[in-house]
Amino acid sequence: MNIIIKNIRELVQVETQPKLKVSGHEMSTLKTIKNAYLLISDGIITEFGKMENLQNSAKAASIKELKEIDATGKMVFPSFCDSHTHLVYPASREIEYIDKIKGLSYEEIAKKGGGILNTAKKMQEISEEELTESALQRLNEIKLMGTGAVEIKSGYGLTPDSELKMLRVIKRLKSLSSLTIKATFLGAHAIPAIYKSNPTEYVDLIINEMIPQVASEELADYIDVFCDRGFFTVDDTDRILNAGMKYGLRPKIHANELDFSGGVQVGVKYNALSVDHLEYTGEAEIKALLNSETMPTILPGAAFFLNMIYAPARKMIEAGLPVAMASDFNPGSSPSGNMQLILSMASILYKLTPEEAINATTINTAYAMDLSEELGSICVGKKANVFITCPIPSYQFMPYYYGSNKAESVILNGEIQ
Ligand code: NIG
Ligand code: FE
Repeated sequence: MNIIIKNIRELVQVETQPKLKVSGHEMSTLKTIKNAYLLISDGIITEFGKMENLQNSAKAASIKELKEIDATGKMVFPSFCDSHTHLVYPASREIEYIDKIKGLSYEEIAKKGGGILNTAKKMQEISEEELTESALQRLNEIKLMGTGAVEIKSGYGLTPDSELKMLRVIKRLKSLSSLTIKATFLGAHAIPAIYKSNPTEYVDLIINEMIPQVASEELADYIDVFCDRGFFTVDDTDRILNAGMKYGLRPKIHANELDFSGGVQVGVKYNALSVDHLEYTGEAEIKALLNSETMPTILPGAAFFLNMIYAPARKMIEAGLPVAMASDFNPGSSPSGNMQLILSMASILYKLTPEEAINATTINTAYAMDLSEELGSICVGKKANVFITCPIPSYQFMPYYYGSNKAESVILNGEIQ
């Protein structure tokens, strides 16, 4: 399909010289064009500019079947990239809510057999069909709120069979969904009860059985470890990442959510694409991340839902780091995949300006999925994944008017959804 969107009140996050990510003070720059048009053909962004120049566009004139969309009063954004989710899961966990309200910590709930292990039990019993069906519904929900690319992790299986089942579902979702999807193997999400007294044995199982099988079926793009207090140690993480990288699986890890775990440093050591959570980030972690190719990724939904301390986003940006923000959509710590809400949390809770928050949820999360050459901004040659807002007065309105869906229509791969 070829589409021309005309009379766009403001076309947001445009790039003529594409960048893979934006860091430090650059994050406060957001290029936009007022009263703009956007031309899409064969799934790709082919041209954009000011409305007054549209009549001179040879490209627009040369396209025969061109669907016109009038966006008077509305804005166009690049779709959000959500670089960290666990959205394939068997059942919600609202019952744990009661324990949480009563004040039990995430770790205490996990120790009582709740949390990840509770979901893993249900994962054993559910069929691939049921998992696929419920995940497709969640994908549809986030799509309508403006997400165009999403990373999905395994990690609720915790046995070779169950982990493979989850990853096969994610592989199927890649072909069934119009969203761009990346898959991450997270066998090291929690230590199953039967390995409690000998966690090394479970790490060996991940290294010797799970990773080779995941690789032989080409089921994952990345490898993840929950490197934190009470979960996997730096030594475990070192061994698992080392094993995964032998099969070409680049790390993207859970780090420093519960403590100064050493997760950031071990992630950087293995050139992780991202280290995620980062509530416990101090000078040493910032120093390790500077001059690395690792994207520091904050997950505001989890910190908000679990009432945790907030990662020092401002400090990180002021030190010159890039910052990405993703949803962590999962049934335990962040039961929402609404990236518009993440945009609001970025500014309300983490004091990012609207410009920084938009960069954190588009181009920097695209980088954290290795997709910033094709997604994350409005740029000629990039995939046409965009959304048109309802009429709004300014792009700053997006984080400000929190909680409601301001995406009115969605275009993915150049197709109206
Ligand atoms: O990213 N921190 C570790 N894992 C998930 C939580 C998963 C769950 O509780 O089910 C997270 O927050
Ligand atoms: Fe997570």
